[in-house]
Amino acid sequence: MCGIIGYVGPRPAVQIIMDGLRRMEYRGYDSAGVAVVSQGQLVVSKKAGKLTNLAAELGAHPLPDSHQGVGHTRWATHGGPTDVNAHPHCSADGRVAVVHNGIIENFTVLRRDLEADGVVFQSQTDSETVAHLLGRALASGLDLMTAMRQVCQLLEGAFTLVAVDAQAPGRIVAARRDSPLVVGVGQGENFLASDVASFIEHTRDAIELGQDQVVEITPDQVRVLTFDGREAPTKPYRIDWDLSAAEKAGYDWFMRKEIYEQPQAAADTLLGRIDPDGRLRLDEMRIDRARLRSVDKIVIVACGTAYHAGLIAKYAIEHWTRIPCEVEIASEFRYRDPIVNPSTLVVTISQSGETADTLMAIRHAREQHAPVVAICNTNGATIPRESDAVIYTHAGPEIGVASTKGFTTQIIACYLLGLYLAQERGLKFGDEVAELVRQLAEVPDQMRRVLAGLDQVAELARGQADTRSVLFIGRHVGYPVALEGALKLKEISYLHAEGFAAGELKHGPIALVEPGLPIFAVVPPQGRDSLHDKVISNVQEVRARGAWTIVLAEEGDLEAGRWADCLIELPVVPTLFQPLVAIIPLQFFACELAASKGYDVDQPRNLAKSVTVE
Ligand code: F6R
Repeated sequence: MCGIIGYVGPRPAVQIIMDGLRRMEYRGYDSAGVAVVSQGQLVVSKKAGKLTNLAAELGAHPLPDSHQGVGHTRWATHGGPTDVNAHPHCSADGRVAVVHNGIIENFTVLRRDLEADGVVFQSQTDSETVAHLLGRALASGLDLMTAMRQVCQLLEGAFTLVAVDAQAPGRIVAARRDSPLVVGVGQGENFLASDVASFIEHTRDAIELGQDQVVEITPDQVRVLTFDGREAPTKPYRIDWDLSAAEKAGYDWFMRKEIYEQPQAAADTLLGRIDPDGRLRLDEMRIDRARLRSVDKIVIVACGTAYHAGLIAKYAIEHWTRIPCEVEIASEFRYRDPIVNPSTLVVTISQSGETADTLMAIRHAREQHAPVVAICNTNGATIPRESDAVIYTHAGPEIGVASTKGFTTQIIACYLLGLYLAQERGLKFGDEVAELVRQLAEVPDQMRRVLAGLDQVAELARGQADTRSVLFIGRHVGYPVALEGALKLKEISYLHAEGFAAGELKHGPIALVEPGLPIFAVVPPQGRDSLHDKVISNVQEVRARGAWTIVLAEEGDLEAGRWADCLIELPVVPTLFQPLVAIIPLQFFACELAASKGYDVDQPRNLAKSVTVE
């Protein structure tokens, strides 16, 4: 999401901050801004669009010399990507400026109270609330550190905040909850940032901050307190990589980094959408309840990986809502005169929000007066703008062309939509929804466990350098996982790869099987109807014909293990949630194989991240 930096020290603050932002631009590039303190005054410059816009602005209107400041590069969540919504945000008296990463979930209530006190807001952001709260606390005589601690105790949600006070020379204060923040410890200068990449060229000494902590830096000191004012122990460490790796935050490829970001992206996509009692809250659903109740068919439209997310969602949505659900490739949808009318809910899925085929499908659906919900990762893109409602996936910017965290967060957003429909149409009791939501909230941790065991997959990939063809099979939600596994491999490893419904093998594809052919099989959790045993039978069939079987099955599945030449164990999850963990080894396999072949993992040939032509 957003990138944040704060600096105090002898060097020119604006330059240090701008260099830091440049290395964090992957975190968001909707707008950027800087605030510095000069001669007891706060001076702010901010601009919508990429960092180059801010750089041009600073070239035309330079900020005064300063040795203390904060900067921000934004990935918009609340409020469109405009100059006024750009950070930093200032208190009404212009004394304090703050930059924020995260979502202040209770900002509506806080904003209402501030407005009742006469505060006039400049932006539509949740973040500006914090600036006014800090301003009010400072005006009551508190110092910045105490003000920050008190304000944080009023906030709900996830946040990193970094603030600078015009009346506190040589001092920056920051706070964190569920959002990244690290201290860079220099010689007579100190840094605060979302990512060490932003200060790695100045120092490799860092301090990790814990949950619910506030930190104050001066050029010579770092002081950390808990939100309730106790001294907090700090964890200093030495960064073991250098500037050359900084752009990818230590990863050699954006794709690899994005694979590892999936637990956080999944958690962020759930954040703020589940009430403490397990009830779903989709504030962005601007389609009224009566209309949702009248829906008699759902059509999911998307392309590529997003289409595969839709195929998975169909199983869950039909199961939970009993509403018939079709899934259609966007480029096919509008040319076949689909039956869509005002009681059809059209759901489009797009990471970029700019895919031309998907956009055209939306226009076609709206001409038929069908309500359209977009599931999208890019705030303010055309697809959400042209839809009736949008559920954002909070995956953060996805830079690798092969979609990874985009895919898993799309599945999560679709599941939220399915459960929300079931809830709003009274098709499930509250406790049933709450239980499913509780299980969904466990997925980020289960993803972490898969990520921790990927060495085996890396080794597997390294051994496949001469492979020319790979097959993937699965049933039920495992079938679209097989399709997606094959797509990843095609895209970046340039191998022939096909995904099949395991039950279809005998109707043709089994003729492809020859000795040594690698076949990945996604085995459903044990004990679910006869699905599990059916896939195991399919594994035996291909193995009997000489295939080399790589079996993905839940831990403790002894039967699956018997027929696996290579067994990849998955955590135990409900069947519908298995794609969220099963896809990770397949993504990683494709990434490792492409890397071992010396291919450009992030920018594979002939492809582009956002397909804006039909
Ligand atoms: C595959 C991939 C593409 C996209 C497709 C749709 O890794 O990234 O198949 O999924 O082009 O793009 P969006 O989601 O931006 O509409």
